[in-house]
Amino acid sequence: MELTAEQKEMLEGKHGKAVKKAMEILTALGEIYGAKKLIPVNSVQIAGVSYDNLGEAGLEFLSTMAEDGKVKVLTTLNPAGMDMENWEALGISKEFAENQGRVIDAFKKMGIIATCTCTPYFIGNLVRFGEHIAWAESSAVCFSNSVLGAKTNREGGPSALAAALTGFTPEYGYHLEENRQAKIAIDVKTEIKGTMNFGALGKVIGEKIGNKIAYIKGIKEASVEELKSFSASIATYGGTALYHIEGITPNKTDIPEESIEVTEEEIKKAIESMNTGEDADFVSIGCPHASIREIALVAKLLEGKKVTKEVWITTARPIKKIADQMGYTRTIEDSGVKFACDTCCVVAPIKGRFKVLCTDSAKGCFYGSGKNDFKTKIASIEGCIEEALK
Ligand code: F3S
Repeated sequence: MELTAEQKEMLEGKHGKAVKKAMEILTALGEIYGAKKLIPVNSVQIAGVSYDNLGEAGLEFLSTMAEDGKVKVLTTLNPAGMDMENWEALGISKEFAENQGRVIDAFKKMGIIATCTCTPYFIGNLVRFGEHIAWAESSAVCFSNSVLGAKTNREGGPSALAAALTGFTPEYGYHLEENRQAKIAIDVKTEIKGTMNFGALGKVIGEKIGNKIAYIKGIKEASVEELKSFSASIATYGGTALYHIEGITPNKTDIPEESIEVTEEEIKKAIESMNTGEDADFVSIGCPHASIREIALVAKLLEGKKVTKEVWITTARPIKKIADQMGYTRTIEDSGVKFACDTCCVVAPIKGRFKVLCTDSAKGCFYGSGKNDFKTKIASIEGCIEEALK
């Protein structure tokens, strides 16, 4: 791989130990994937923030990098294992809270914005069409590539951190136009509405095409929230980091000849397959993290009512601040629902605390059962609130 004089200096250690290590990670990745050069990035999203996933080994790596590492570009963080302010009310142990705090301190020391969210595009890490970025978090990667038209691979925690500390990423994969073309057309034969149904569509398509890039026809309308849910689901069930929806997403693509259909029956079956439990004892809305529009809807549905079970709204802290200003928080908390900022029902250490999770998120169902052993129930946001009030 060809390096510029500045990049060579970074690799030789002339810009400090953390930058040297970061450059070693990037050049090794570049060699593996056949990149010809490193290209500048202007935005980074780092995943692997929960102490639950990192453990002491991960924390030690971060602490070493934080000794002299400082980020060169706007960098945000994925959800952590707990609400950084309100962890006690959510049943998180003091020991876990201390360890999670050490992780966040290491990130902060490097100049990373420690608002922990999987929807960085809602809190100021907004990227533009055609821009090269280095993001981790499969749902955000899929959203930024497909809906915003930025260009990123599915980075891991260390490679995203390395891009943040150097301002570069190897040019391969989704950074190259030839790898962003659709390979299969999907004809959706039924009307899809709401985050639950878009999540189910993502599951059906993801399971059919794996990590191929789809050109999807037959969708007339899709809100940002529906696309957020779809991006999370197609990336979870299939593994792709990019899709095209005719008339909705902005990237140019060749239109493939091979075409398959998605029927109403398949959507129904996908929903049935995520309904593995009945009476939920835990309801969680906000996977990916809830938008202010979703929170406004929840507040409207809960006005003057009381929930009967544990209910979380997971969102970014700056979005909750808007909810505070608008009075949504008071309505929601008066009903007995808890905000869980900075975290979610998957990355929080809550395995064994609940039996059945009710959510509007197909991704939430996948990891709720896979990681936390919950039975799951999928419903629209309105349906989740009904379940919470039962
Ligand atoms: Fe975000 Fe957690 Fe879902 S990180 S996409 S809310 S599993």
